[in-house]
Amino acid sequence: MKYLYSKKVMDHFLHPKNMGRMKNADGMGIAGNPVCGDIMYLYIKVKDNKIVDIKFETLGCPVAIAVSSVLTDLAKGKTLEEALKIDNKDILKVLGDVPPIKMHCSILGDDALHEAIYDYYKKHNKQIPEWLEKKHQQIVKRNKEEHH
Ligand code: FES
Repeated sequence: MKYLYSKKVMDHFLHPKNMGRMKNADGMGIAGNPVCGDIMYLYIKVKDNKIVDIKFETLGCPVAIAVSSVLTDLAKGKTLEEALKIDNKDILKVLGDVPPIKMHCSILGDDALHEAIYDYYKKHNKQIPEWLEKKHQQIVKRNKEEHH
């Protein structure tokens, strides 16, 4: 029998890292998948410009859960600038094969991370790079579209 998901996807789906809610997060990001309506919440704790803790809650399919788990693994310990460079290609590199029909599920992770860092910057009156502001506007628009 051939499974739809790679072993890596199944490992992260069955044993996700950093799953759960975080109290007193320094930044929080929400990202929705416009194709299916699934949603991811991401919480970060920041110290000395580094992501010292990170947690996610994802209402989504196995790929979305696996993506969330890998993303939190990748982002933990990174500076905010380094974390902003993470994109879904980095996540897919770790996960290996994802069925083409599930590719859209991989965007949730880096969107939510960018939103959490955006939120942190906003709350701490930091300067927000123009490209991040643009990405934020797009994500907010997408999240809205999906909720009506
Ligand atoms: Fe919704 Fe995968 S089907 S995130």
